[in-house]
Amino acid sequence: MDKLIVRGGKPLNGNIEIGGAKNAAVAILPAAVMASSGIGVIDNIPEIEDIQCLERIITSLGCNVKRTGNSVEIDSTNVTSVSVTTEDVRKMRASYYFYGALLGRFGKVRAELPGGCPIGVRPIDQHIKGFEALGAKVKIEHGEIEATADKLVGTNIYFDVVSVGATINVMFAAVLAEGTTVLENAAKEPHVVDVANFLNTMGANVKGAGTDVIRIVGVKELKGCNYSVIPDQMEAATYMIATAACGGKVMIKNVIPKHLESVSAKLVEMGAKIKEGDDFIEIESDKELKGVNIKTLPYPGFPTDAQQPMSTLLCTAKGRSIINESIWESRLKHVDELKKMGANIKVEGRIAIIDGVEKLTGAAVKATDLRAGAAMVIAALSAEGESEISCIEHIDRGYPHIEEKFRKLGADIKRVKA
Ligand code: EPZ
Repeated sequence: MDKLIVRGGKPLNGNIEIGGAKNAAVAILPAAVMASSGIGVIDNIPEIEDIQCLERIITSLGCNVKRTGNSVEIDSTNVTSVSVTTEDVRKMRASYYFYGALLGRFGKVRAELPGGCPIGVRPIDQHIKGFEALGAKVKIEHGEIEATADKLVGTNIYFDVVSVGATINVMFAAVLAEGTTVLENAAKEPHVVDVANFLNTMGANVKGAGTDVIRIVGVKELKGCNYSVIPDQMEAATYMIATAACGGKVMIKNVIPKHLESVSAKLVEMGAKIKEGDDFIEIESDKELKGVNIKTLPYPGFPTDAQQPMSTLLCTAKGRSIINESIWESRLKHVDELKKMGANIKVEGRIAIIDGVEKLTGAAVKATDLRAGAAMVIAALSAEGESEISCIEHIDRGYPHIEEKFRKLGADIKRVKA
């Protein structure tokens, strides 16, 4: 496996361009398979491993998939299979979006259960509850899920927890159902809105995405369309936090600042300077930052996906910081890696108590999951001395060209091929 070698301690300066949002793109590609005519052309697709997995799965269903730069063209007119059982399915979480998409279009899907980051138990009971409420029969046996329906009929569904995946997946099944579906206690993340906009561009009738009540009037068919994915707020958050940690001044281009409000607010509270324009955020830091408390929450609260990078920054902030990870029960595994670099952190369940130290020092560490990987890159960039980061396949699942982008900002970081 490849490794990243980082010589830390350099400030970050310059401009950086953010790519398309992973968590929107990984839902939009499976949704594209619902088009029974026309060709879908989706732009601003990030060049990451999760997307390559999805492209292979879509091809295995009988669709034609063509990638040109950041654009993916999908012809799903002649789908020949509703079985999602290639090994790629187990490599990522978002493979579960084929359940809703294929059930919605064909009334049938058989799939292996999904993989993804080991950040806690990741139940799919709310997805199943939604499919069953629409009239599907769902069974899970031998690590596979099978859902079938003679027809899907719209209804009211109240989610017991706010779930990004369940909101999107049930929306997929509902857009081609007969009648009206109302999703209550829906997730409000920017990627939920982006996926709803994509479905509407394909001919669906989805209203209210971005609020906690989404109303879907079923339509007869969806058609391929042209669409461009929103910018990745987590990639942007990662570069913002890295700049705060390393010091310097970075202009982060192609972002929607509103999507990053909770992260920007915390960085300002810590002492970083932030300027926002229509599609950019400029961040400046002298590294003299103070500790803050963070509780992760569904959007518009502080995102769990930014918690691990932020925890690295808090390691060298003055005073005590407390992190309360309220979404995932095992999203603090990276703490042991940060401790190898000199961090002073105590973990009690989902709470991390961080007492700021003067500096982190380079060490051999590993990426325990995707955002933990980003946290380790930030730690290594800001630390004194050399670090070696292993298990970076996690990072490649979600960050396009991370070492090139950081190098452009002045970092000393290189990839060593296995
Ligand atoms: C999505 O995961 C993201 N993944 C995650 O990002 C992100 O951390 C998470 O949303 C929360 O924002 C993708 O979009 C591919 P959830 P998802 O369903 O949809 C509970 C990253 O780093 N729950 O919103 O799987 C669940 O246990 C990744 O990019 C149920 O109880 O998350 C959790 O506590 C990691 N039953 C909470 O809801 C269900 O049926 C939120 O999960 C579903 C979820």
